[in-house]
Amino acid sequence: MDADPAQVQAVAGVAVGGTVAGLAAAPAVGAEAEEEITGNLSLRVNSTPVSVTVDNRTSLLDLLREHLELPGTKKGCDAGACGACTVLVDGRRANSCLTLAVRLQDADVVTIEGLAPEQDGELHPLQQAFIDQDAFQCGYRTPGQIMSGVGCIREGHTESPEEIREWMSGNLCRCGCYPKIVKAVEQTAAHGSKGR
Ligand code: FES
Repeated sequence: MDADPAQVQAVAGVAVGGTVAGLAAAPAVGAEAEEEITGNLSLRVNSTPVSVTVDNRTSLLDLLREHLELPGTKKGCDAGACGACTVLVDGRRANSCLTLAVRLQDADVVTIEGLAPEQDGELHPLQQAFIDQDAFQCGYRTPGQIMSGVGCIREGHTESPEEIREWMSGNLCRCGCYPKIVKAVEQTAAHGSKGR
């Protein structure tokens, strides 16, 4: 099935909606105190080495979206309840809104932007499966669903639709596309793809 450009946008994590407002600005502090609340951080994001100085309170989600200009990872609840912000950290699924960036020294982070192999615009098999199964409507939480699905497949939790549903239960879809999402994960697992 040919991919609709809008569908490709959604599975590739291109912005398809607004964001929830971030935390309120911190009150002004002196230079000394400011120094104490920032930290230097070196990690790899989508195979690219990154070195940044960030406020110690910065979440991985805000680091990605606000500092590294990677808006594919979406901010939904910003409280660990929806899974929209799911990324892979050292190969494991993580809610980036609950992960402090400064704790990720030397970590390897993969976001929706880095999931596909960099050749000829080819999609990751699970991205393609989401298109094949029409597994989204608005697409806002699709990047988190796909990253979680990749983790679910890698962990081997794909023996049945029930098992997939259980291990994907932290990722909400307000459009109600759950049956199609399960089918997309099943399709990818059946082809033996472990993802990146
Ligand atoms: Fe992180 Fe909802 S935005 S779980």
